[in-house]
Amino acid sequence: MLKILNIVGARPNFMKIAPIQREMRRRKTDFLPLIVHTGQHYDAAMSDSFFKDLGMPPPDFHLEVGSHSHAVQTARIMTAFEPIVLEEKPDWVLVVGDVNSTIACALVCAKLGVKVAHVEAGLRSRDRTMPEEINRILTDAISDLLLTTSEDADENLKAEGVSETKIKFVGNVMIDSLFYSLKLAEQSKIREDLGLNEKEYAVLTLHRPSNVDEKNIFENLLDALCEISGKIPIIFPAHPRTRANIERFGFAEKIKHSNIRLIEPLGYLDFMRLYSGARIVLTDSGGLQEETTALSIPCLTLRENTERPITISHGTNILVGINPDKIKQNAFEVLSREKLNESAKIPPLWDGKTAERICDILLKYN
Ligand code: UD1
Repeated sequence: MLKILNIVGARPNFMKIAPIQREMRRRKTDFLPLIVHTGQHYDAAMSDSFFKDLGMPPPDFHLEVGSHSHAVQTARIMTAFEPIVLEEKPDWVLVVGDVNSTIACALVCAKLGVKVAHVEAGLRSRDRTMPEEINRILTDAISDLLLTTSEDADENLKAEGVSETKIKFVGNVMIDSLFYSLKLAEQSKIREDLGLNEKEYAVLTLHRPSNVDEKNIFENLLDALCEISGKIPIIFPAHPRTRANIERFGFAEKIKHSNIRLIEPLGYLDFMRLYSGARIVLTDSGGLQEETTALSIPCLTLRENTERPITISHGTNILVGINPDKIKQNAFEVLSREKLNESAKIPPLWDGKTAERICDILLKYN
C-alpha cells in the first residue's frame, strides 16, 4: 500500500488532482491518498467551488497560506508543509503544474528525502520572467519522477540532461477531468443565464501579471478586445488580480461602453459549459489552451510564447502575442472562417486515461 500526499494550491491544480485522487481511491488496496491544500487560492470561487464541481473530498490537511509576495507565500507553504511530511511519512508526494505551491512542496520533500512525482513535467516557455517557468524548471530538477503530457516535454527534459528512466509520457490528466465532466457541465444554465446562443459569443480570460499588471500593456489589449467585441460579444470572467487592476487603472468605463461583459470567475462546470459553446476563446491561460484543443474550439493565446506548443502543432491554438493589430487580424480571420479547425487533432494520450497510467507507473516505479 502506497501512502500518497496529493498537493493542490491554486485553481489550475484542482482539475489535475481530482482524477488521480479518484483513481487512487478506487484502487484501495494499493493506495492511501490524502489531499493537502496549501490555501494559495482561498476564495470560494477560486477553490471551494472546484472541490464541489469535481466531486473531490475535502482536503485532509489545509495549510491556509493565502496571498503574499512570492517569497513569503513559498516560504509559508514550506514551513506549514514540512511537519505534515514528517508526521505522515508518505511514500510519494504528487505535485502538479507550475504554481508556487508546486515548487514549495517539492522542495520540502527533496530536502527530507521523500520521493516527489511531478505531473505536467517538462513544459518550457523559455521565458524566465514568468514565475511559472522558474517553478517548472526547479520542480523538474528536484523531482524523482517526471510525468509528461506531451513528447515535446520529454525532449525538453532530455535536453536538460535528465535521465530517461525518470521521464514517463503519461498524457494529460487535465483532459481526464474534462471528459469526465462534459456531461455534468451540460446541466449548467450559464448560457441561458447570460442569454447566449451556441457559437455566437467569444470567451476571454486574462490574468498573467505580464498582461494585466502594467497599465499600458493592459490598455492596449483591452482596446483591441473592445474592437473585436464590435463583431461578437465577449464574455470575460475576470480573475481577482485582473478585476483589481481594472478598478485601479480606471478601465471599468471603457469596458462598460464595449460589448465585453465582465463577470465573476466561474466554477469548473459553468466555465466548461461557457467555453465549450464559444465561437472563439481568447486567453493567456495555460490550461485553456489545452482544453480548447481537446474540444476543437479555436483559441487565440495573448502571449509571446507558450509552454504548450502541442496545442499549436496539433490543436486549435494560435499564438498571437500582445500586439493589438495582430490580435484583431487573427480574431477577424477566425471569425470569418466557415469551417472551424478541420485539421485540428487531439494530441496523443489526451484520452481521459492518464490518471490510470499515473497510478500504474507509481506502483511499478516503487
Ligand atoms: C496563480 C499562479 C498562476 C496560475 C493562477 C491561476 C503562481 C506563481 N501563479 O496566479 O500560475 O495561472 O494562479 O489562477 O503560483 N486572490 C484572491 N482570491 C484568491 C486568490 C488570489 O482574491 O483566492 C487575489 C489576491 O489579491 C492575490 C492575487 O489574486 O494577491 C493573485 O493571486 P496569486 O495566487 O498570488 O497569483 P495568481 O495570479 O492567482
